[in-house]
Amino acid sequence: MLILKLTNITKEYNSRVILNDINLSCKNCEMIAIKGKSGVGKSTLLNIMAGLERATSGEYYYNEILMNDKSINSLSKFRQANVGYISQHSPMIPELTVLENICVPVWFEKDEEKKKEYMQQIESLSMLFEINNLLDKKINALSGGEIQRAGIIRSILKKPQLIIADEPTAALDDETALMILTHFNFLKSEGAIIIVVTHNDIVSKHCDKTYQLSKEGLLLIS
Ligand SMILES: Nc1ncnc2c1ncn2[C@@H]1O[C@H](COP(=O)(O)OP(=O)(O)O)[C@@H](O)[C@H]1O
Ligand SMILES: [Mg+2]
Repeated sequence: MLILKLTNITKEYNSRVILNDINLSCKNCEMIAIKGKSGVGKSTLLNIMAGLERATSGEYYYNEILMNDKSINSLSKFRQANVGYISQHSPMIPELTVLENICVPVWFEKDEEKKKEYMQQIESLSMLFEINNLLDKKINALSGGEIQRAGIIRSILKKPQLIIADEPTAALDDETALMILTHFNFLKSEGAIIIVVTHNDIVSKHCDKTYQLSKEGLLLIS
């Protein structure tokens, strides 16, 4: 079983405490929501779980491997192999087409079989997210919601075990948000761990558990 576990995590920036005594445990086939006021440290917490930042103290175990003292290089390998990171705005290269932007993670793949698999994933996901007719367009021809859907495809095309989403539906209409949640539920049933920071009650209702992050720590609220 795949388990993500945080014990007594703290994070300081220049001696300023951002996260204090955070504890969390989740396993595969689980989707959890994290809520909390702006500035409380939600993105910082996600960055620690995604291996983008290190905690100041405490332990982060992913799959029974202690992540705290991993080098920048091995954290980057961890992210490439395991993590699908979805943020509120998906950064895109405007000179490239939608397909070329989605293909960025495929550039570094040397295994031809895997490459083929990823291209098939792009084909089916772009149909599912209804942007298959836009793949040859330049990015600036798309709406914000369409760009976000393209970004989500790019983040999940390698079928990551750990999906970390930072307010993924903030810029989306309800219909698109629901489309993405339905797919998250599918990925969850396939064994992924999904952690979503959200203010949206529709999103948290789709989650198995909801936590509230505050100065007091991370509390299970439903
Ligand atoms: N790299 C950084 N250096 C210094 N302070 C930071 C850094 N990243 C975030 N912070 C601070 O940490 C606090 C929490 O930020 P963040 O995790 O983005 O909160 P949230 O996502 O809940 O709005 C904020 O006060 C922010 O200014
Ligand atoms: Mg944030």
